Order: sequence, then C-alpha cells, then structure tokens
Amino acid sequence: MRRTFIAGNWKMNLDRQAAVALVRELVEQVGPQSRVDLAVCPPAVYLEAVAGLVAGSPIGLGAQNMYHETSGAFTGELSPAMLVDVGCRYVILGHSERRQYFGESNEDVFRKAQAALAAGLTPIVCLGERLDEREAGRTREVVEGQFRGSLAGLSADEIQNVVIAYEPVWAIGTGKVATPEQAEEVHAALRSMLENRYNAGIAERIVIQYGGSVKPDNAAQLLGQPNIDGALVGGASLTASGFLGIANAAP
Ligand code: 13P
Repeated sequence: MRRTFIAGNWKMNLDRQAAVALVRELVEQVGPQSRVDLAVCPPAVYLEAVAGLVAGSPIGLGAQNMYHETSGAFTGELSPAMLVDVGCRYVILGHSERRQYFGESNEDVFRKAQAALAAGLTPIVCLGERLDEREAGRTREVVEGQFRGSLAGLSADEIQNVVIAYEPVWAIGTGKVATPEQAEEVHAALRSMLENRYNAGIAERIVIQYGGSVKPDNAAQLLGQPNIDGALVGGASLTASGFLGIANAAP
C-alpha cells in the first residue's frame, strides 16, 4: 500500500535562525518514528544546516529545484549530485511558481526528473491547472498535457521512484483549497493516466500528493480520499503546529 507522504515546501521563506528553530521543533515533536513519511524542503542555502538536524530522525530532506546537467558552466545552478552530497533525498520539480516565473517547460521538468532519478533522488513532480483553464473546463486536458510532457517519457523503472504533486495553481497560497471531490477527481484521472502509460501495478504504487492551501483543518478530508496520498504544503509548513497538524490528520 501507498504510504502517506507529507512534504513542506518552505519556498523563499525563513532565515537561518528560524529554519533551525523550526526543524529542531519538528525533530523533537516527531520523535524517533513517524506514522507517515515526512520531508522538509528549505531554501538551498539552508539545506546543509537542516540536514545536520534531521539526520537520524524520520524527517527527510528535499530541495526546491535543481538543474539537469551534472556539472559545468551553469552559473547559479545546482546539480543533482550536489543535492545528494548535502543530504537530500527529494527534489521538488516543475512547481507552478517555477513554470510561471522562471519559464520552466514540461521538457525542462522532464529532463530534470530524469537527471534527479539518475542521481538517486526522488523527484516530486508538480502539475496543475490555472483558474482560467479550470473555468474553461480544460483541467483534465491541461493536466494530461503536463503528465505527457513532464512524466510520460520516463521508463517504467524510473516512474516508480517519482512522487507526483497535483497543485491547482488557483489554490496555491490563496486560501482557496480545492474541495476533496475536485482534488480526488484529478488524482483519479492521474492514476488512470499512469495505468494507461505504464500498468495497473505501477499506477497503484505511485504516491500522488495534493498541494494548495492545505491546513490542519482541511487535511483530514483531503487525505481521506482514496487517491490522495499526501500533501505538498506551503504556508502551513512554516510552523511545527501547521506541518504536524497536517501530518497528524492523515487517516
Ligand atoms: P500553500 O500551501 O501555501 O498554498 O502552497 C502550496 C504549494 O505551492 C506547495 O508547493
């Protein structure tokens, strides 16, 4: 069965002191074992400090982005191996903010996913429709296009180590959460895309997180849906009570 996976995407928030304080609190409150899989994704400059604090705890470490090349003249970029080197197990790829503000295409996300997998990282690949697309009744078509472009080129071996995050853009940072039914509909559609492209066994095993205004008070309903296997949490992951409130709400 799929294990629930709750990941905190801190985005460009917190300073070193606040990051360290938050992780210390998380490590202390989670204790030696967790019922659900957990990860925090701090800004890259704090990865190493956070790695030292989560070592030996059930909290995994993830980065928020990376470049697909292994090394070279790519000023400002980080390679997959560098992320592994500082203790990352996960990397968020293709977040809508990267697609929107930094022009990342499906092709970029696909290349990054392949490179992350080759380095032994688990990519958390994000996709989701904008409000105008949903209102035009194009949600499934948009998500399917992103699935084809960012994921479907991966081999059956590769896809099994991917986490998918469905994040409707209109629900991110807006307080406007998708209803459990709206989210479940897309998650179920994604699972059938996985089944069609790969097979039923693979589709059953892949963790699909929901992201977009997940909070402790709406998490139980979302995570109670059959195809929602976890959450990618922005704002609420910036406090221990928010993040663990969501983790504890998992069925
Ligand atoms: P919020 O939880 O702040 O809406 O952000 C969601 C998100 O983008 C996680 O990657």
